Amino acid sequence: MSPTVQRPDLGGPFPEHIAIIMDGNGRWATERGMPRIFGHREGVRSVREVTTECARMGVKSLTLYAFSEENWKRPGQEVTYLMRLLRVFMRRERKTLMKNGVRLRCIGRLDRLPAASLDALRETEALTADNDGMLLRLALSYGSRAEMADAVRRMAEEARAGTLDPASIDEETLRAYLYDPTTPDPDLVIRTAGEMRVSNFLLWQLSYAELYVTPFCWPDFRRDQLLGAMKEFASRRRKFGGLEQEDIPAASTESVEETT
Ligand code: IPE
Ligand code: IPE
Ligand code: MG
Repeated sequence: MSPTVQRPDLGGPFPEHIAIIMDGNGRWATERGMPRIFGHREGVRSVREVTTECARMGVKSLTLYAFSEENWKRPGQEVTYLMRLLRVFMRRERKTLMKNGVRLRCIGRLDRLPAASLDALRETEALTADNDGMLLRLALSYGSRAEMADAVRRMAEEARAGTLDPASIDEETLRAYLYDPTTPDPDLVIRTAGEMRVSNFLLWQLSYAELYVTPFCWPDFRRDQLLGAMKEFASRRRKFGGLEQEDIPAASTESVEETT
């Protein structure tokens, strides 16, 4: 059973799915004269707080970009530390995830992860699979272009085998071959530490997400900063390419002939 959910009044729509590019751990540590790994360690506290707060506030899905396919390029020592942190986090957080009714799912090229980290992750996924609260998705060894390449390869194999008709392929078909097709697209994407880019994150799924970039480095991104982002989301006008009722001109006052 998930704990009592208390949705805050944001003064507007609630983001059902929040995705976060957790950036700035290294800078956070460097600014304090410490090695980069201290930033990663401190960042885990933010993961815990933001996950717990989202679950309590009734967010349906939270996707955290924890390690990109391109992050394998980093120095071996940093990568090893991050993989160890992942393993320890997976084991240590189980109790909290269970208490908060959180379900864990990982997306990415997980076969690249060290066996011990992958085992810890699969065990936690299995343990939390029946929880009925928030879905926590961790993007690990994740790259959106890799996800699309993986999807297209599988589609091509099925087309060759005769089980997929190329003429029937539409947007929903492609979606069905992505890593986690059943989770609705993110409503709000938060990037910490100020960079104005998406760094190969959910390129397909972010098509109509609201973007929010904050100068706070990830280790400093906690409950108040999360609420600030959610309130900003609530004040946005999402149009999905259409027009809102109040922007539609009255038929009698504007015609195509008059304006051309
Ligand atoms: C984000 O922080 C964590 C990962 C990408 C694993 P960074 O490590 O990218 O920190 P900065 O951007 O160098 O400050
Ligand atoms: C994006 O951050 C990846 C994660 C947060 C896991 P990076 O630090 O890798 O992105 P760039 O290199 O600044 O684009
Ligand atoms: Mg970074």
